[in-house]
Amino acid sequence: MSRKLFVTTALPYANAPFHIGHIMEYIQADIWVRYQRMQKDEGRQREVYFVGADDVHGAPIMIAAEKAGKSPAEFVAGIAAGRAAHLDGFLIKFDNWHSTDGPENHELSKSIYKRLREKGLIYTKTIEQFFDPVKSMFLPDRYIKGECPKCGAKDQYGDSCEVCSSVYTPTELNRPYSVLTGATPVMKQSEHYFFKLSDPQCTDFLKAWTLGQGSGRSRLQQEVANKAREWLGGDGDKALSDWDISRDAPYFGIEIPDAPGKFFYVWLDAPIGYLASLKNLFNKKGMDFDAFMADPETEQYHFIGKDIIYFHTLFWPAMLHFADRKVPDNVFVHGFVTVDGEKMSKSRGTGISPLRYLEIGMNPEWLRYYLAAKLTDRVEDIDFTGEDFIARVNADLIGKYVNIASRAAGFITKRFGGQLKLGTDATEVPVLKSLRAASEEISNCFERREYGRALRQIMHLADEVNVYVDANKPWVLAKDPTQSDNLQQVCSRLLEAFRILTVYLKPVLPAIAEKVEQFLNIAPLQWDSVGTALPDGHTINTYQHLMQRVDQKMLDALFEKPKAEEPAKAATVKGKPASQSTASTESTSNIEPLPVPESFEPLAEEITIDDFAKVDMRVGKIVDCNYVEGAKKLLRLSVDLGEGRIRNIFSGIRSAYRPEDLVGKLTVVVANLAPRKMKFGVSEGMVMAASADGDDGIYLLEPMSGAKPGMRLS
Ligand code: MSP
Ligand code: ZN
Repeated sequence: MSRKLFVTTALPYANAPFHIGHIMEYIQADIWVRYQRMQKDEGRQREVYFVGADDVHGAPIMIAAEKAGKSPAEFVAGIAAGRAAHLDGFLIKFDNWHSTDGPENHELSKSIYKRLREKGLIYTKTIEQFFDPVKSMFLPDRYIKGECPKCGAKDQYGDSCEVCSSVYTPTELNRPYSVLTGATPVMKQSEHYFFKLSDPQCTDFLKAWTLGQGSGRSRLQQEVANKAREWLGGDGDKALSDWDISRDAPYFGIEIPDAPGKFFYVWLDAPIGYLASLKNLFNKKGMDFDAFMADPETEQYHFIGKDIIYFHTLFWPAMLHFADRKVPDNVFVHGFVTVDGEKMSKSRGTGISPLRYLEIGMNPEWLRYYLAAKLTDRVEDIDFTGEDFIARVNADLIGKYVNIASRAAGFITKRFGGQLKLGTDATEVPVLKSLRAASEEISNCFERREYGRALRQIMHLADEVNVYVDANKPWVLAKDPTQSDNLQQVCSRLLEAFRILTVYLKPVLPAIAEKVEQFLNIAPLQWDSVGTALPDGHTINTYQHLMQRVDQKMLDALFEKPKAEEPAKAATVKGKPASQSTASTESTSNIEPLPVPESFEPLAEEITIDDFAKVDMRVGKIVDCNYVEGAKKLLRLSVDLGEGRIRNIFSGIRSAYRPEDLVGKLTVVVANLAPRKMKFGVSEGMVMAASADGDDGIYLLEPMSGAKPGMRLS
């Protein structure tokens, strides 16, 4: 039987570039796919389609786009443009990369929805939700903040308290406010569309699917099955809740058929994006997508992280099943990457930047190997640490593997014109025998995503080969002319051993494998190439250096805090001899720039002078200043901009100044900012103050002496 595989990774949100966690997921999936592509079924290459896409819809992306002053489509296109550099850089070879806003996804999402509706699984219900009256939009939970109803902590998100960890709904918050505008949200009714997951037929189906009944392939990982079982409850005691699948305009998404102004919640159309990307690929290839997906032989697998199990083991299979489509054969769940034991966080940075890794010239195969060596088939977090990385890569890849070739190839090229001669009894050489014998076990490890185990076995075999080297000492044989045949045989057998190791490592190290194929002068290695030894008389090409050792300096550079554009440039100039510095930088080239503080915020996107001219900043005189009752952070300023009236301005500087110290001072005000309605009144402008991430304080700006209220800044 010939296997056909449809493989995906989770579709990343298109609101940011990839971080190392994404890269880890893609490397895990890419290794599996490359392993599958080396297999043959009944003599034919296994068919594998590996696709990804950007997950572009939803409120956060819409809001991020607005902040960046772009349309959502423009904004996500900008993010998409950076994908290839990462994927190519880490040798991750998707067959297709698409977007959930493509026409295929609009069409497929609507058709799946309509099918569910025909099945009576969609209904509408009016719900009440927080609405931002200034922005005229319903607020997702994470855009509402307020005081924790349990412990009173301020500025807590709408769903849970970071201080006391209690969980609640946004309506329970005290003094709620919209994160977008600061306005107090109001309750507003709206009709929402629901997917009836509580229907017994859904629960029955999901119980069967998560238990892997009916198909030998759909066996969820133990931890994943346990979770799913927990969610599904025991014997119908705890039915699943119905799923709210609609969002009201304004929303960047796919409009629901026959429901103007209503859009699919992003998590409805996102997984359908898997199908859409495959369909897009098949269209380009002129292949029949529907036939492929209707074929019971087609196997469908999704690589995902542990945070999105619910969506992939409940919503997604149910959606597909009741829309009469193929359901996933399995979801392969991985844990999270931590760096030096720490969870990556957006605010503290992501530990390692993938692009920086590549920019400083680190080899992508080091990371592939390192991560693979730590990956298992379980849902475990894996930790990246610098020393461990250096030790693992240098000891295994250079010390055990690459050295075999570099030690043997020189003699073959110099002494024997590149010709191999393994000798007649080569198959009986113990080390070659055990190398071949391991094929099936290593293969099974890759199939089961036990990469760490596979690599341990492979390195164990490499150890055996190195024992063979030490036992036969080619460098000693080379000194004795009577041992010439023996030298050729030992080195030929070493290269054969190296070839077999390369087959096993090829899913993890595709670029090295290609170099090896070139240097050994052989066709691309397949898994079954293990069984066909290099024939006597075969001529190899000159050995090419395969891989460098990892250098501690690179790790240092990798972990250095990313520098912002400008200071980085200045630093480069500083490092150059004076004669090389260009005219424009000459005057500053001798001045040491300040060290970049940890809290340095990267510069905002470049703007034109016209953009700047839109901001009208004026010198203002603080004529009065008071505390605001009930506001721990605010001061109320009365500011004269020389325009014939006094403005009321709220500013979050209470922690830094006493009101009486500010009265009479000049400062700078953004004068043409739209007035903002706050809980305590309307704020008519913004005073300018400097601050940084972390706790370095807040500093109000004050012009040098001589400035007058009303003067414009330019
Ligand atoms: N857009 C959704 C997925 C939709 S799938 C139809 C999403 N995007 S994401 O960008 O937040 O995450 C994409 C993948 O990266 C997920 O599988 C997630 O688990 C994974 N990871 C995010 N952070 C990670 C680590 N620190 N480590 C490993 N994987 C991590 O969720
Ligand atoms: Zn609390």
